[in-house]
Amino acid sequence: MNTTIASVPTQPQRVSGVQAHDLVRRFGSGDSAVTAIDHVSLHVPPGEFTAIMGPSGSGKSTLMHTLAGLDRPTSGHVEIDGIDLGTLNDDALTRLRRDRVGFVFQSFNLLPTLDVRENVLLPFLLAGKRPSGEDSARADQLIARLGLSERVRHRPAQLSGGQQQRVAIARALVTRPAVVFADEPTGALDSRSSREVLDLLRSMADDQRQSIVMVTHDALAASRADRVIILQDGRIVQQLPRTSAAEISRVMLALEAEGVDAEVAR
Ligand SMILES: Nc1ncnc2c1ncn2[C@@H]1O[C@H](COP(=O)(O)OP(=O)(O)O)[C@@H](O)[C@H]1O
Ligand SMILES: [Mg+2]
Repeated sequence: MNTTIASVPTQPQRVSGVQAHDLVRRFGSGDSAVTAIDHVSLHVPPGEFTAIMGPSGSGKSTLMHTLAGLDRPTSGHVEIDGIDLGTLNDDALTRLRRDRVGFVFQSFNLLPTLDVRENVLLPFLLAGKRPSGEDSARADQLIARLGLSERVRHRPAQLSGGQQQRVAIARALVTRPAVVFADEPTGALDSRSSREVLDLLRSMADDQRQSIVMVTHDALAASRADRVIILQDGRIVQQLPRTSAAEISRVMLALEAEGVDAEVAR
């Protein structure tokens, strides 16, 4: 009998990317309690681009905030790069977000007094670090990639909404975060700017092996993802492997029709 194997201590498995185990997030208590996230488990490994879809109020933003460590779950846990967020105090959680997580929100949160380049380099300044030559080169590369090279000295107010969103995306990517969370990143963009943003997110997954989690209402945007997770009432009701925008729209419409039928039967 081989006793060596039995004596090898079991290493806790470190899982890269972002992982949720049996996540629950409840708001309020008693009769007014809302279960925004209802036992969700998922794993987005490095290099995977996942889209989250679902009707308004289905828990998309709450799920994203909880995965990103901006909100604490009621139960269950979240790991980013193998680190259980529940074991971190608020300071450590803030540091982990700063070092390993990138955010793109619907509102761009650009600083009005800084120009494009300064806004992109802001994460380094906030961390109290002077950007290295490599950091600056990466910022310039992202700015060029997003078609903003002619605008580096412009302030946010001198840019269109689409251009401002692209600055916000460059800023989210400049620190090479392990995981990037994007809440409706193309919601306010024209189709050309949308395509540029989606191309960039796609290449962050393919070339930089970053994990991308994107909330979207747009089937065309979701069709660029490796997987589409559909939420309803805080639960994952469907998962689609990479597929066409037409197929994603068809599934979303069918779910909506089911919802209407259930409403009528009530
Ligand atoms: N801070 C909060 N307090 C109370 N209820 C909340 C809060 N945030 C979200 N909810 C509720 O949780 C559910 C999911 O909301 P949300 O995650 O914003 O959905 P989505 O982003 O899919 O529209 C909704 O019923 C919403 O009203
Ligand atoms: Mg939302």
